[in-house]
Amino acid sequence: MEAYRMLHPKLTVLLTTVDKNGKGNVCAVAWNMPVSEEPFCVAFALDEEHLSTRNLMETDEFILNIPGKDMLEDVWFCGTRSGRKVDKLRRFEVEDGKKVKVPRIKGCAGYLEGRVIKRMEVGECVLFVGEIVHYEVDKKLFGEYWKEGSVLLHLGGKYFTLPGKPLTPGG
Ligand SMILES: Cc1cc2nc3c(=O)[nH]c(=O)nc-3n(C[C@H](O)[C@H](O)[C@H](O)COP(=O)(O)O)c2cc1C
Repeated sequence: MEAYRMLHPKLTVLLTTVDKNGKGNVCAVAWNMPVSEEPFCVAFALDEEHLSTRNLMETDEFILNIPGKDMLEDVWFCGTRSGRKVDKLRRFEVEDGKKVKVPRIKGCAGYLEGRVIKRMEVGECVLFVGEIVHYEVDKKLFGEYWKEGSVLLHLGGKYFTLPGKPLTPGG
């Protein structure tokens, strides 16, 4: 049993990074979370073998591109092939990040651009903490929270779901 799936579903992002020569890469990341509001910081855990991990060790800058539900096949592609073997960014239209020197994927529902401020080895992973220096979101998909059916939540393996109708305490 994959016990960590008890903590899913998780909003899944496409993490873009570059190596020290500026060559870009993208991979899917479900293990991400906010960790502070002031300053706004996020954390994400990456397997030490991933090309994205090596890129971050070299350059520290990243973008969390938040794909809409129509990008399910893209998420699967980027989460099942390594940039060591395939140039995954060729699949997308990209543009420059606004505040970091990392490509961002056009047409996503949201973007969080950041710089790594801390990292820690945990088991087979490296836990990165990054300060967000710029963000944007598609207001059609996000009001106070992600709207119904907007973004991809990873259940585990090949299984994904979507945000449903909001529930509020007190009815
Ligand atoms: C939906 C989904 C979520 C994933 N989340 C993570 C994650 O949080 N951390 C991680 O290390 N790998 C995660 N992976 C696996 C990586 O995306 C995958 O191994 C990828 O090939 C690594 O690419 P890279 O070597 O180009 O960096 C996920 C895969 C999928 C399909």
